[in-house]
Amino acid sequence: MTATDIEHATGPIVSPPAALPLVKGRPITGVLPELRGDPMGLFTRTANQYGGLVRLNLGTSEAWLVSEPEILKSILQEKRRNFVKSDYLNDLHIIIGDGVFMAEGDAWKDARHVVQKSFHTARMNGFVDQMTETTGEMLERWRAKQRRGEPIEVVQETMRLTLDVILRTMFSRRLDEAHQVLYETVSWLLRDLERRFWRLVPIPPWAPVPSNRQRAQAIKVLDEFVYEIIEERRRSPGSKDDLLERLITIYEEEGGASRDMLRNEALTFIIAGQDTTASALTWMLCELSRHPELARQYKAEIDRVTQGRTPKIDDLDQFEFGHRFFKETLRLNPPAWTFSRMPLVDDELAGHPIKARTTVIMPIFALHRRADLWDNPEGFDPDRFTEENEQKRHRFAYIPFGGGPRACIGARFSTLENLAVTAMILQNHRLELVPGYKVEHEPMFIQRPRGGLRMRLCDA
Ligand code: HEM
Repeated sequence: MTATDIEHATGPIVSPPAALPLVKGRPITGVLPELRGDPMGLFTRTANQYGGLVRLNLGTSEAWLVSEPEILKSILQEKRRNFVKSDYLNDLHIIIGDGVFMAEGDAWKDARHVVQKSFHTARMNGFVDQMTETTGEMLERWRAKQRRGEPIEVVQETMRLTLDVILRTMFSRRLDEAHQVLYETVSWLLRDLERRFWRLVPIPPWAPVPSNRQRAQAIKVLDEFVYEIIEERRRSPGSKDDLLERLITIYEEEGGASRDMLRNEALTFIIAGQDTTASALTWMLCELSRHPELARQYKAEIDRVTQGRTPKIDDLDQFEFGHRFFKETLRLNPPAWTFSRMPLVDDELAGHPIKARTTVIMPIFALHRRADLWDNPEGFDPDRFTEENEQKRHRFAYIPFGGGPRACIGARFSTLENLAVTAMILQNHRLELVPGYKVEHEPMFIQRPRGGLRMRLCDA
């Protein structure tokens, strides 16, 4: 992009505080080619060059790119009733329905209240034990691979692990052979979601095309799994102590829930929680191998706190350095690298009028790399997250889990999972990137390393 690509908007803006930049891009297509080719680069360059509030020409429409912490705060907090989830999530909506992730207004408020209660901190203990149990089984498989001298494919391993953890904590099931089909189905649905995300012309959900038929079939597989478990719980209530049981109990205390409401929340946890946590874990392992000195510091903390035991929740809370390392990993590699909203009716942002239904892109990846917000933004430095340094920063300058009342419900769950898993891995192994691997971000719906991530296992 060159300086000539940019023009200052005139006309409809009556008395703006300052002219709002418009990135025009190419004739006819605007910035669409760059958006499809290198969206992370486009957003990061634009935010760094033209500031935190910029218009992007998408050819036949326009989107606003917002990476100014104060404006993000107003969208996600003060103005959140008008700035709703945008049409870009329609395909996700088809899978997870009107659960807490997609709902708006009073329906969202009710769902959020119940789901949040089911994730209550006091109940996380048991979940951590299931996370470490699942990790122990993964490490058994890794040892066999190490003996055979095989590298591990980290993306696949973390995807399996995080789905297994969700099945155990949510449904008291395991990712055994009988449930292998779930892994394949969820993986297929996530890839399908990504293919649709980048299409210039969306496929209408009613179109009789093979991809819609395949998607309906995949959703049916998940529905059958979830509905069967819901029926089982209804026949013998209180038989399990997992997230689903908690949801059912809390809903009952609040007047009950239909089977579809439970189904929507259950699928939301699977879809919103698996890929994101796997991506975070993958990048954590990648950053640990890229920064051996910092990895040794984390390992020393793990050894000091756990004395070689399997970590418990209280141990994880004492990983002060581990938490900072994790936060810095999510700054440079936020799994949800961008998210969006649209105003229901005409509104304004920082004094600039915005038309109803304009897409507002909130590029977390670019926000976390703004040179005016972060010193040496590309450098990896967990010290950015000491308490003192965190207090100096705007709260909305760092939002890997979103912000405001709709911030991620699973933030603590996935943070604990990340620390538990990495602690157990480091107690046993050192991971080295297979030489020759160029690691770069692939901007899928949830970003991950392009072409996977192969690592070699060494003894700790
Ligand atoms: C590292 C892992 C994760 C990351 C980076 C992440 C990121 C996010 C982000 C950015 C949002 C805000 C979306 C928006 O405002 O449009 C969000 C919301 C949400 N996340 Fe996560 N998430 C993670 C793990 C999880 C897990 C493990 C679960 C559940 C098991 C979960 C469930 C949800 C739900 C239900 C919402 C919607 C909350 C609402 O709208 O009130 N997430 N997440």
